[in-house]
Amino acid sequence: MGRKQRVLSGVQPTGNLHLGNYLGAIRNWVEGQSESENYLFIADLHAITVPHDPATLATNTYSLAALYLACGLDLNYSTIFVQSHVSAHCELTWLLNCITPLNWLEDMIQFKEKAVKQGENVGVGLLDYPVLMASDILLYQADKVPVGEDQKQHLELTRDIVNRFNHQFAKKDKPVLKLPDPLIRKEGARIMSLTDGTKKMSKSDPSELSRINLLDSADEITKKIKRCKTDPIRGLTFDNPERPECNNLLSLYMLLSGKTKAEVAAECQDMGWGQFKPLLTETTITALKPIQDKYQQIMADKGYLSSVLRDGREKAENIAKQTLTQVKAAMGYSMPF
Ligand code: AMP
Ligand code: TRP
Repeated sequence: MGRKQRVLSGVQPTGNLHLGNYLGAIRNWVEGQSESENYLFIADLHAITVPHDPATLATNTYSLAALYLACGLDLNYSTIFVQSHVSAHCELTWLLNCITPLNWLEDMIQFKEKAVKQGENVGVGLLDYPVLMASDILLYQADKVPVGEDQKQHLELTRDIVNRFNHQFAKKDKPVLKLPDPLIRKEGARIMSLTDGTKKMSKSDPSELSRINLLDSADEITKKIKRCKTDPIRGLTFDNPERPECNNLLSLYMLLSGKTKAEVAAECQDMGWGQFKPLLTETTITALKPIQDKYQQIMADKGYLSSVLRDGREKAENIAKQTLTQVKAAMGYSMPF
C-alpha cells in the first residue's frame, strides 16, 4: 500500500472570496478530502506581490482560514496553515529562482495582465510570483493541485522547474522533486462575471455587482442577481457561445443546486429570465447560508482558530523542512549536523 495522494492548494487573502473561488477551487478541496492527505494554506506572501495594506493583511488571513473551515475542510483530513508561518517557502523560492530562466517568467499571462494594471509600480515579486507558487507545491511533494483554469500556466511552469531541477541536480532514477498534476474540474473552473459573461469573476473587478461573495447577505445576493446581465432570448440553454451570460448563470444554478446538467437543461429550457432569476437567487442564498453561519461561529472563537493554525504550521513545517534539506543537499550545501 502506498501513501495517500497528497493534495496541496491555496488562495490569497486579498479581498472577499467569491463564487468563482468557491466553485473553482475550495469546493473541490472539500469534496475529495477524505481520499487524500491535504495541505491547504493561505497565500499571504503572494498577497504582497501587488501593493497591499498592512493593517488588513492579518485580518484577511484569519478570515480566510475561518472560511476554509466554514466551507467544510475537516481537520481529520486536511492541514490548514499560513504560508508566511513556514519560512521554507521563501527559502526554496530563492534556490529555485537561481535555476529559473527569466524569460519563462516574462511569458506568464497573469504577470502580463497584472503588470499592465500596476503601471509604473511593478515589483520584482510580481514577476517571481510563480516561483513562490512552485515552491509552495514542491515543498510538500504534492501529487495533485486543485485550482481554477487561470492557474494552469503556473502549474505548467512548476512542472518545467521540476524537470530542470531534477535534470541538473538529481540522480536519474532518484528525483528530488515530485512532478505535480493540476486538478482542474471542467465544471466551475471558470465562473464568469455577472456583468459580463466573457470576463472571469474576479476579486479585482472594480464593480461589486460583477461577483457574489461568500459572505454576501441575502439582500445583496438578491440585488446582484436582479441586476446581472442577461439577453433578450426566451428559453435558457447551456453552451451557446452567443449567450455567455446564459451559460454562466445556468452553470451557477447547476453547481449550487447540486442538480445535473441534464436536469437543469430540462427544467430551464422554456423559462424566461423573470422566472429563472428568483430561482437562482433562492438557490444561492440557501447554498451559502450554512457556510455563513459556520463562519460567524468560528470567528467568534479566535482561540480555536489560532490553535488550528498553530497545529497546521507544525505539521506543514515538518514536511517542508525535509524537502528543503534534500534540495539544499542536492545543490551542494552541506549541513552541520
Ligand atoms: P485567487 O483569488 O486568485 O487567490 O484564486 C484562488 C483560487 O480560485 C484559484 O484556484 C483560482 O484558480 C480560483 N478562481 C479564481 N477566480 C475564479 C473564477 N472566476 N472561476 C473559477 N475559479 C476561480
Ligand atoms: N496563485 C494562486 C491563485 O491566485 C494561489 C496559490 C499560491 C496557489 N500558491 C499556490 C494555488 C500553490 C495552488 C498551489 O489562485
